[in-house]
Amino acid sequence: MAGEIKTASGKIVKMNTRAGAILPDIDSYHERLWADAQAQIERLARHEITPDEYIDRIRDLHHSLDLTDELRPWIERALAERKDQILNQKTTPERSWTMQLLYLEPNEVHPPHCHHNLISTQVVLHGRVYAREWDRVARLGPDTILLRTRTDRWFGIGDRFETTEVSKNAHWFCADGKPAVMLNFYILGFQEWTFDPPGTKGRRMLDPTHGIQGDGMIVAKELALAEGYERFGDTPIEHIPLPRRSVV
Ligand SMILES: [Fe+2]
Repeated sequence: MAGEIKTASGKIVKMNTRAGAILPDIDSYHERLWADAQAQIERLARHEITPDEYIDRIRDLHHSLDLTDELRPWIERALAERKDQILNQKTTPERSWTMQLLYLEPNEVHPPHCHHNLISTQVVLHGRVYAREWDRVARLGPDTILLRTRTDRWFGIGDRFETTEVSKNAHWFCADGKPAVMLNFYILGFQEWTFDPPGTKGRRMLDPTHGIQGDGMIVAKELALAEGYERFGDTPIEHIPLPRRSVV
């Protein structure tokens, strides 16, 4: 789900969020990449595998295929139409899952944000993406959380984001000066323990430049959706240094 917003510098940028919306069911893609993934979703739902094992199985599935070759028609369509391509999407009252290609415009930024009860795999299929990923370690206050940095580097084709409630839940990514396409495969509502209480909104924006502890952990401030885009929506990630810890 995309809208538009004006950033602090006056540039109009895309704003991506499903914001709790009920999305239409879509069933456009039926190859093994989907059928085998769906079988793993069902195993996870029956508690036959854990979220970490589910992530491992999806990675094994992806490594058993040539993803860029398998999805080539969809990648080409995303680049030609310059928009996301939804392959499969289903919503039930408690859960939902989506397999789609995300199209990133040149220099498009997905500002820093975290998720609620999401398990997600994203794979770069075209172009280059700068990625920062964090574990959420603790809630420090009503709008501050402690983050542990896991990733701060360029991703190329085949590089993966693997996100659960307890691992690399927060991220920030942007394309370089050319378009990028990523496989974005996420499921919602499959984890028993959640960082915040049930009913918490899904994607929430963060300011990871807010502060830092002496041990290097980042003190991030939660932001309203629009504020996250206004602050970070039009600046390449590499131009925004993370806070440095003071050395005593
Ligand atoms: Fe995300």
